[in-house]
Amino acid sequence: MIREVLRMGDARLLRISRPVEAFDTPELRELVSDMFDTMRSLNGAGLAAPQIGVDLRVVIFGFASNPRYPNAEAVPETILINPVIEPLDDDIEEGWEGCLSVPGFRGVVPRHKRLRYSGFDLQGQIIDRRVADFHARVVQHECDHLDGILYPMRVRDFSRFGFTDVLFPGQVVDDD
Ligand code: NI
Repeated sequence: MIREVLRMGDARLLRISRPVEAFDTPELRELVSDMFDTMRSLNGAGLAAPQIGVDLRVVIFGFASNPRYPNAEAVPETILINPVIEPLDDDIEEGWEGCLSVPGFRGVVPRHKRLRYSGFDLQGQIIDRRVADFHARVVQHECDHLDGILYPMRVRDFSRFGFTDVLFPGQVVDDD
């Protein structure tokens, strides 16, 4: 079921989410299914449970290609529960981000270029990956949602923050 995506300003987006304690339950399966329906309906690259008002540490992300990020590498479709992120070095890279909770805007955000992330899938099996570039960026963006952080809070240079259609005229037709 497609759910309403909360927009920035809603206090529920600022909560610290709770860890999932039981895996492979009907409730958790329904949550993840709703998150995929919602993300796909909006061509999102990822979605975190708090964005649909659920304060659990669950994120989803991944796509083969994405019209909102036409130049991005493919990222495997992933359900990541109770994630932990560990930067692999000190390299920081700037890149454009958007968010379904901040529709119509884009901004440049500094993120760790390489990281290891771990967590659990829907069945409670361990996920442990080392990734870089856009994959690493998406994971950091989505996991930030679990701690009440929206990407504009990480923008340092507001000369590179603005309306998507003004920043990138004639480019991608955005849903947000
Ligand atoms: Ni977001």
